[in-house]
Formats: sequence, structure tokens, C-alpha cells
Amino acid sequence: MKIVFAASECTPLAKTGGLADVVGALPRELAKLGHEVTVYLPFYARIRRHVEGEPKYAVQSITIPFRYYNRFVGVVDGGERDGVQYYFIDCPELFDRRELYGPAGGEYRDNAERFGLFCRAVIEASKLLGVPDVFHVHDWQAALIPVYLRTTYASDPALHSAATVLTIHNAAYQGKFPPNTIEDLLFPWDLFTMDKVEHFDHFNFLKGGLVFSDLLTTVSRKYAEEIQTAEFGEQLDGVLRNRARDLRGILNGVDYAHWNPAIDGHLAAHYTPEHLDGKRVCRADLLHAFGLEKVADTMPVMGIVSRLAGQKGFDIVAGIAEEIADRDVAVVVLGTGDPYHENLFRGWAFRHPDSVAVQIRYDETLAHKIEAGADMFLMPSRYEPCGLNQIYSLKYGTVPIVRATGGLDDTIEEWDAGKGTGTGFKFAGYNPSDLLAEIDRALEAFRDKEGWTRLMRNGMARDYGWSGPAREYARTYEEAAQRRA
Ligand code: ADP
Ligand code: GLC
Repeated sequence: MKIVFAASECTPLAKTGGLADVVGALPRELAKLGHEVTVYLPFYARIRRHVEGEPKYAVQSITIPFRYYNRFVGVVDGGERDGVQYYFIDCPELFDRRELYGPAGGEYRDNAERFGLFCRAVIEASKLLGVPDVFHVHDWQAALIPVYLRTTYASDPALHSAATVLTIHNAAYQGKFPPNTIEDLLFPWDLFTMDKVEHFDHFNFLKGGLVFSDLLTTVSRKYAEEIQTAEFGEQLDGVLRNRARDLRGILNGVDYAHWNPAIDGHLAAHYTPEHLDGKRVCRADLLHAFGLEKVADTMPVMGIVSRLAGQKGFDIVAGIAEEIADRDVAVVVLGTGDPYHENLFRGWAFRHPDSVAVQIRYDETLAHKIEAGADMFLMPSRYEPCGLNQIYSLKYGTVPIVRATGGLDDTIEEWDAGKGTGTGFKFAGYNPSDLLAEIDRALEAFRDKEGWTRLMRNGMARDYGWSGPAREYARTYEEAAQRRA
């Protein structure tokens, strides 16, 4: 099949979170299965820097009309890699900026225009470069593609048989804009009703995508159920329940070409389940990177790599920060996010310089060093659509401690010391005391060296590669295309 991916992130070109990892890996896996895959991204400043020399244009100029003016965009030919063709939507006024979405945790004021233009430009570009069987669009930034196709472009014969699949990576980010965005993007006002894009008196891009796509997916089975409830639905649970029969949970895979301790180029040493010695070297290297060289050999190291946002559950960590610091455990944290969370971690490290260390920045290499060098990995998320770091941790023999929600619940199995089964530690209640009890269980288990090695190897033996999920997506595309036909 011919598939067009439209997304706002893609590893290694532009990344703020797991969406980029998915868009970086899934198209390549689909290409391996024989599909013809094209990926469209906005031509951000950081992607421009990836391009050697002058950008090569596949399309010189496409006119995108707005209410009071036109914008003119080019389509940069990003070339083919691993069987996947990349195109970048070039509109310097909107995309040639430092950040993808806005300054530190904030939003650019013109994001409706930026991603509205992106969606329309992808449709126009594909009319020139190849209309696919299926548009696979990701999150609110690409969610207007199905809306445009079924409204503005509804009578365009070139696009009539193109199906759409929308993947929800995070239902909390919806792209909500004032009502007159309808006019700015030249949509008819009759779209602005409760059964279409109107949502609490806003134009909600994600809701539009949920209503107009042929099929919907999200990134784990558990999250597919959760978002149909008031607790996790972010006020879209009603819309999602209406489309329950068209919604599939497909667990994300992991790109083991990048996340595998046997070959990972970021590490001080390599290791495998049979030969774990290298992990000691990685641990020493990690402690050095965080200035914690004095941490005793017998003391476990607990790692965190995360966007520092409310979703990730660090407010319950704050509730027991002193108790954790009193335990026999060192903590290393890498993350960026909102000022509240950044300061929370800075303060924690400041009070416990010998056992807690924090780096507030985005650093790919350090993320890999934590996966490899830590003994445990903490993800106490309030909600987690899939979560990738706990799956990376399994491969690195770094035992996850997670809250039983979304993809964390689907991927981690509680350790049973008696039977020697399980891959990590999982607690249910979203509160500091349940979290602390689970950390204590992990620390207790760590003291039994033989059991712990077994636990590490159980996780390392799990296979979360992309080949299974890619086949599930391919089946979903087939189904979407059949419905169109
Ligand atoms: P989310 O997409 O919600 O942020 P995921 O667990 O799906 O959560 O993916 C997060 C991805 O972003 C992982 O690849 C992780 O390593 C990476 N990441 C998050 N914060 C940082 C950081 N400060 N430095 C480097 N990588 C980070
Ligand atoms: C989102 C979710 C995360 C998921 C990622 C990739 O950012 O927060 O749980 O793993 O998308 O699907």
C-alpha cells in the first residue's frame, strides 16, 4: 500500500518525546514489509540544520489560502532513507524557529495557523507527489488532515479514495483554539457544532480528527480503554465512546537498532544478558557523569529520564522525596519541563548532594547512559498512553518501577520472587505511600543478588520490536481503505 505519514516530530530530526521515536521507526518497518511510505514534517530550523548544502525542492510553491492573505510553501525533498521518502513543508515565517511548539512549556500564539497550514500543505503536496491509499496522521498537529479531506476537499476526485487513520499519542494535548479559527482556516461555520469540531466553545483540532478519520488508534490496549472514561478521556471520552468500534490499541514497538546495550554507541561498555559485566562499567560512567562517584558499590541507582510535566507523576515523588533520600539508594534525573517540576528536582538534589543528582536539559547520550547505568528506572505516571522508557529499560536490564496505567500496565509484569517470574515493580494507587511501598519492595529485592539477576534477565528477554505492531498497523490501513472503497 501507499501510506503518507504526517506528524510534528521524527527521530533523529526533531524530537521532544516518544512521538518522534514512533514516527522515526514505524515507517521503516512498514517499508520492510513492502509498503511505500512517505513521511511529511514541518521544515523546522533544526531540520534545516540537518540538510547539507541548499535544500532541494520537490515542489517550488504551493498556495495556502487564509482569510486575509495567502501563504506560499515549498516542499523540500528530504531524500530516501531505509526505503522511506521524507518531505519537509517549508514555510519559514511559521517553522524556521528555535522550538517546535513554543518556548519552554509554552505555545506559539500562531500554532493554529502553523499546523493548519501544515495539514493543508500535506494534502496539496500529495496531490503533486502521490496521493496515498492511507493518510496516517499523528496527534492534534496533523489531525486537520481528515477534517480537510472530508470538508474542503470532499468533492476533489483525486482524493476521494484516500483513507485516514489517526493515532492518539496523548489525549491531553488537543490543539484548542478560539472559534474564529474556523474562518481563519477557511472552514465553513457549519463545522462548528458539537458533533464536529466544536468543544466547549473552542475549535478542537484533535476532536475534528476523531470525528472525521476512518479509523482511530492509540498506543496501548489499556489506554484505548482508559480514554473512554471520564477519568482519562480529557473531556473527549464521549466522542471516543461513540467511536469505540473504530478505535484500536496498538502497543508501540522499540527500535532496537538504537536501544540495545549490545551495540549502543552512547555507552562506555556493551553488555548482553549472558555477559552483564559491561553494565558495571556503564554504572561507573553514569555516576561520573552526575558527579556521584562516591556512591557505594552496594547501593542501587534509580534513574529518571522524562519530560517534567504533570502527566509523569512527580508530584507523588515530591511527597516522599525525603523518605527516598533516607533510603539506601542513589537517584539520577534527566529532564526538562515546567518550572514547578524543574525546581522540585533542583531542590531535591540541592538538599542531598551525595545521593541525588539532577540535570535539567535535553541530552540524548545521557538518556542512553541512564538506561544502561542505572539499576532501576522510575515512572510513576498519573497516566501514560504507552511510555517508551520502561520498555527501553527492560532491554538494558534496568528494572522498571511503574504505576499500573496505560502502556506501563501493559508492558510491566510484577516480580514474583517465589516463582522467579515478572519484569518489574508496579503499584496501583496514585499516592506517595503506595509509591514508597513499591520502591521499598524493589530495594528489598535488590539485596538478593541471584533473584535480581534473574529479574534483569527476564526483562532483557522480552521482545518489543516493531515487526508485530507494524503488521497490526498494516491490517488497520487495509481495513480503513476497504471502508473508503
Ligand atoms: P513522552 O512521549 O510522553 O515524553 P515516552 O516515554 O513515550 O514519553 O518517550 C520519551 C522519549 O523522550 C524517550 O525516548 C526519552 O528517552 C526521551 N526523553 C525525554 N526527556 C529527555 C531528555 N531530557 N533528554 C533526552 N531524552 C529525553
Ligand atoms: C506520547 C505519550 C507516551 C507515548 C508516546 C509515543 O508522548 O505520552 O506515553 O509513549 O506518545 O506514542
